[in-house]
Amino acid sequence: MTSPKPRIAVLISGSGSNLQALLDAAAQGALAGEISAVISNRNDAYGLQRAAAAGLEQHVVDHRNYPDRESFDAALVAKLKELDTDIVVLAGFMRILTPTFIEPFWGRLLNIHPSLLPAFRGLHTHQRALEEQVSEHGCTVHFVTPELDAGPSIIQGVIRVTEQDTEQTLQRRTQRMEHLIYPRAVDWLSSGRLELDGNLPHLDGEQLKAPVRLHEEETENTQHASTD
Ligand code: GRF
Repeated sequence: MTSPKPRIAVLISGSGSNLQALLDAAAQGALAGEISAVISNRNDAYGLQRAAAAGLEQHVVDHRNYPDRESFDAALVAKLKELDTDIVVLAGFMRILTPTFIEPFWGRLLNIHPSLLPAFRGLHTHQRALEEQVSEHGCTVHFVTPELDAGPSIIQGVIRVTEQDTEQTLQRRTQRMEHLIYPRAVDWLSSGRLELDGNLPHLDGEQLKAPVRLHEEETENTQHASTD
């Protein structure tokens, strides 16, 4: 008897292009887990339409219905448990989470951030990268821990910044890399190749002392999903 695939819930607030990349990966058999539900905190998130098109269960848990972060987080945890969730993937989920949410899913909770962490935690990452004239920029998949954008990093998509780059080109190039690295990390976690031991990430039994890095140049011929 084969064991059931881990059940993955994807949490969104907006466009959901990363959700689409995950759905495409699942459709191509490239995800060890099964995307079992999509939850949004906004009922107008475009990603809900992507979920519907894929025939997935969609849920809205509206943060405005709760008096504080803790009660919203408790409601989310209850919903995720009710849905029998093994792994939670934050894909543009624009809420700061408290330990009430993070602890029950310790080691089973991933986020993607549009910078090469630890650089540029928080918002406006492309603008800040240009202002600081960095030579490399990109995105990071990391485990979520209570400190914002500071959990152990797993994989980064790296782009070289040129003088011609604008906020828009950085955003576009970074998102393309997001769509390549997020399905990979989610596959690793759902297949059991990736684990969090205390605060230390391990891939294939080896401690990840630094995140895996995928460079844009290596991916130029990679077919990627239509995830705009
Ligand atoms: C991405 O840029 C991701 O890095 C950030 O939010 C954005 C979500 O985009 N956390 P989308 O909704 O997946 O298109």
